[in-house]
Amino acid sequence: MEKILILDFGSQYTQLIARRVREAQVYSELHPWDMTEAEIRAFNPSGIVLSGGPNSVYEDETPKAPDCVFELGIPVLGICYGMQTMAAQLGGAVETGHVREFGYAEIQSCGDSPLLRGIEDKEGGVLDVWMSHGDKVSGLPEGFHVICSNESTPIAGMADENRHFYALQFHPEVTHTHQGKAMLSRFVHDICGCAREWTMPHYIDEAVAHIREQVGDEEVILGLSGGVDSSVAAALLQRAIGAQLTCIFVDNGLLRLNEAEQVMEMFAGNLGVKVDHVDASEKFLSELAGVSDPEAKRKIIGREFVHVFQDEAERMPNAKWLAQGTIYPDVIESAGSKTKKAHTIKSHHNVGGLPDTLHLKLLEPLRDLFKDEVRELGVALGLPREMVYRHPFPGPGLGVRILGEVKKEYADLLRRADAIFIDELRASGWYDKTSQAFVVFLPVKSVGVMGDGRTYEWVVALRAVETQDFMTAHWAELPHALLAKVSNRIINEVRGINRVVYDVSGKPPATIEWE
Ligand code: XMP
Repeated sequence: MEKILILDFGSQYTQLIARRVREAQVYSELHPWDMTEAEIRAFNPSGIVLSGGPNSVYEDETPKAPDCVFELGIPVLGICYGMQTMAAQLGGAVETGHVREFGYAEIQSCGDSPLLRGIEDKEGGVLDVWMSHGDKVSGLPEGFHVICSNESTPIAGMADENRHFYALQFHPEVTHTHQGKAMLSRFVHDICGCAREWTMPHYIDEAVAHIREQVGDEEVILGLSGGVDSSVAAALLQRAIGAQLTCIFVDNGLLRLNEAEQVMEMFAGNLGVKVDHVDASEKFLSELAGVSDPEAKRKIIGREFVHVFQDEAERMPNAKWLAQGTIYPDVIESAGSKTKKAHTIKSHHNVGGLPDTLHLKLLEPLRDLFKDEVRELGVALGLPREMVYRHPFPGPGLGVRILGEVKKEYADLLRRADAIFIDELRASGWYDKTSQAFVVFLPVKSVGVMGDGRTYEWVVALRAVETQDFMTAHWAELPHALLAKVSNRIINEVRGINRVVYDVSGKPPATIEWE
C-alpha cells in the first residue's frame, strides 16, 4: 500500500495532517522529526510532509529534516515550520523575530502550480487560510518559485516543480483553511500519485489476515471494559480468530446503570464472543472503604483491576496473547520525539497498565487507527452506533465521580441520576453535541422541601463539556429548559437526592472530571 510519512516538528496540528491524509484514503504515519535515514527508507513513503512546530530555524540546535528527505526523489510538502526548515536547509532565507501572525488571512494563489491550480475560495485564486507563525521565508532556495502570497507574507507558498518540493506557510490541515482538504488531496493523489486504498473494508481484510498470521492457533485474552476501544478490538478479533478469543469483563461496582448487562448482551449475546464476566464489585468497594484521596482511590482501583485480571488470566493457561485496545494517538504519545516532555496531572488507569508477569505476548489490533477510524471500524463490524459513539468513560469509572469516600449507596444513587441525564441528553439531541457529560455525586447534604415535608438529602452536579482533544474544554451551554427537566426528573425519581447544580467551569482551570 502506498503511504505518506509525516515528520512531526511539534505543532499542535500534526495529528490533524495524518487524519486529513487518511480521510483522503491514503495511509499515513506520523513519526518524530529525528527519525533516522534507515527508518525512513524502510518505511518507503510515496511522499513526505514536514509539519509545523514551535521552533525558529535559526535557534541553536533547531530540529531539521533528515537530509535524505530531500534526496529520495519523492515529493515533499513543508507546512509552516516545515516550510521554513525546507527553505533554510535548501539554501533559502528565513526572517525571524517577527510579530506573530495568527488567525485568518486571505492569500492570492499566483502561479500555475499543480498544488493550488484551480483551487480557490473567491474568483481569481483568492484563498481563505489559517496562519499561525512568527517567522517567514524571505528568500527562495534555488529552483523554487512563489505559488501564493499576500502583502504581509510575500512568500506564503513556494514550489520547486522539478524536484516536487512544495511548501505552505499556512496550515492546510485545519478546517479554517477552507480549501485545505483539496490542497492535501492534490499533494497525496496528484503529486505523490497515491491511490485511494485506505478504506474500511480494505482495512478489515488486511487486519483480519494479519491477526490470523500473527496469532496462528494460539489463544488470546482481552480485557473488555465496555469502552469504545476495547469493544472494537473485541469485535475485530472475534471476526479474525473468534474461537480462540476469551474476553474478561470485570465489574468493579463503579460502572454505569445496567452497563454489565448491556456489555454481556452485546458481546456474549449478539456477537457470540466468549466473555468471562467477573463480578468483583464487593472486593473493589471494600478496598475503597475509608479512602477519600483521589489519587489513592485511583491507585486502589488500578491495583485491584490488575489482581482480578491476573487471577482470571491464570485460569487460562493456554492463553499466549494479551490483546489491548491501544490506538494510534497512544502510540504517538508514547513514541514522541526525544525533545518532548509530558506532565502528569492525574494518573490515568487503563487496561494498559498490566504487569508483564503474565508472560503474554501483546496484541494491539487497533494501533494504527485514529479514534474516528476506530469508530468507523466498529460500525463496519456490526457494533451499534450508540455504543461506538458513546462519550468516553474513565477507567476508574464512578470512583472519580463520587467525591471523597466511595460507598455502594452513593454509587447506586449516582448511577440512576446519571442515566436520567444521559437519557434526556439523547432525547433532546444534545448528546452528540457534547463531548462528555455525566453526573457527579457530592457527599454533602442540603435542606429541601417536598410536599409538606422537609428533606435533608444529597446534592449532585451535572457536568457537560465541549472539547476537541480533552486537553481544554468549554462547559456546554445546555438550554435552561433541558437543565430544568433533568433536575426535576432526578429529584423526583431518585429518592435521596434533593438538589441538582450545574458545573460552569472550563478546563483549564478546572478539569473535566471532578477528581
Ligand atoms: P480530566 O478530568 O483530566 O479528564 O480533564 C480528561 C479526560 O480523561 C478522562 N479521564 C480518565 N480516563 N482513566 C481514564 O481512562 C482515568 O483515570 C481518567 N481520568 C480522567 C476523563 O473522563 C476525560 O475524558
